[in-house]
Amino acid sequence: MFSRFRKDGNAPASGRPAAPAAAAPAAAARPQVAMPRAVPAPAAGRPAAEAVSADKEKKRKGRLTELKLEIHKRLLENLNLSALEHATEASLKQEISSLASETLDELSVALNKDDRSTLVQELYDEVMGLGPLEPLLKDETINDILVNGPHRVFVERAGKLQLTDVTFRDERHLMRIIDKIVSAVGRRVDESNPYCDARLADGSRFNCMVPPVAVDGSLVSIRKFKKEKLKIEDLVRFGAFTEEIAAYLQAAVSTRLNIIVSGGTGSGKTTTLNALSSFIDNSERVLTIEDTAELQLQQMHVGRMESRPANVEGKGAVTQRDCLRNALRMRPDRIIVGETRGEEVIDMLQAMNTGHDGSMTTIHANNPRDGISRLENMVAMAGIEMPLKAVRSQIASAVNLIVQASRLQDGSRRMVSVTEITGMEGEVISMQEVFRYERLGVEPSGKIIGRFNATGIRSAYSERFRQWGFDLPPQIYEPIV
Ligand SMILES: Nc1ncnc2c1ncn2[C@@H]1O[C@H](COP(=O)(O)OP(=O)(O)OP(=O)(O)O)[C@@H](O)[C@H]1O
Ligand SMILES: [Mg+2]
Repeated sequence: MFSRFRKDGNAPASGRPAAPAAAAPAAAARPQVAMPRAVPAPAAGRPAAEAVSADKEKKRKGRLTELKLEIHKRLLENLNLSALEHATEASLKQEISSLASETLDELSVALNKDDRSTLVQELYDEVMGLGPLEPLLKDETINDILVNGPHRVFVERAGKLQLTDVTFRDERHLMRIIDKIVSAVGRRVDESNPYCDARLADGSRFNCMVPPVAVDGSLVSIRKFKKEKLKIEDLVRFGAFTEEIAAYLQAAVSTRLNIIVSGGTGSGKTTTLNALSSFIDNSERVLTIEDTAELQLQQMHVGRMESRPANVEGKGAVTQRDCLRNALRMRPDRIIVGETRGEEVIDMLQAMNTGHDGSMTTIHANNPRDGISRLENMVAMAGIEMPLKAVRSQIASAVNLIVQASRLQDGSRRMVSVTEITGMEGEVISMQEVFRYERLGVEPSGKIIGRFNATGIRSAYSERFRQWGFDLPPQIYEPIV
């Protein structure tokens, strides 16, 4: 049955195909796979023992890599690649395993069961998946995968970056995996087109930058797609904000305030936006616009749009602004823009000002005041010649609320500020912070000690909340002293 995948289509009964000359080099020309000798037990104490075992592990890995390389070469020579599309995982693994056995026999290498199954899995990942990235993609505890050239692969777990022992053989190997990803979405990267955004088959967000612009080897960043997005309850449980703040946010979303989630990179903006969207009523028609579709709204009536870059001839681009303009003709009750980062800001502000209240977006900024400046800059960069005061009054009347997400030094992600925009005072946009996260100290382990607190300022929208049936108890605005 494995023979389906062999190029010749009929493997001999022994299961050992008559390999082409190149794939079965004469004994003399066989690649030499160094077998580590039994390591003598060190006479010295523990550190020496540890060094020996680390050395042993390194040698073992090196040996597996060499074997993998050889078997992979033979697989590519022997497999009928077009038959792979219809292969089941089990049958392909069996095929790989049989080819591995042949190669191991030929090279007189004995592997234990664990090493053999690691080898088969890695080869399977190499042929069918994204090679060394596969185990990281499967690991649910990882949020981001960051590749800095072939020999340094980092991951982010619980808000902290860690170096992994995953490596690519060399830059060519890394490039091959990158090509596999970008060609699947009809794109190409090379010297003249050195970077690309894409989406992996599982929905993960992918970006790469290749040499010579990436100086020390290709750079890859993957934001893993989470099937189960964090819900409001999860965020409360993880300490991103409190139940009181959640009640306030529910009132804000339900009463159709225009909300901006502001935050630094990877601070949890999209996650917060997604969780906030759960407060939208099921009867509303929501349109979402993103550069890479990440949001997963639970409502029944959702229209999702994803912008598209230009093709290799520089044609066919559909920007977020194009989507947004079109969305306005699609009778939306609410518009959600994944991240406002350019000229679409104009249409977003206009939409917020002209009846599409309850719209939401995120921006990249380190505090609410910076968030406003970012909006002003984006308007200016979009080429709109408007006096600053006019721009500010547009912003002040469009945006009702800014929630600031932040990733703190200890890796925790928290909503550090909930700030309302209350209007204009002269030339300046006036704001009031209603809730904030107060840092009280740091534990010896580096964990930040802090608490959420009200500032004592009652929401400017309390009356609106009340009229819409969200009677928040006045105590939630009272600070703990
Ligand atoms: N409060 C939280 N607790 C734990 N994990 C979180 C929290 N908020 C977000 N995350 C996780 O952190 C990662 C980054 O979150 P998210 O994509 O929302 O960030 P972002 O600010 O939108 O990033 P980017 O700037 O890259 O768009 C995700 O994997 C998400 O699941
Ligand atoms: Mg995001």
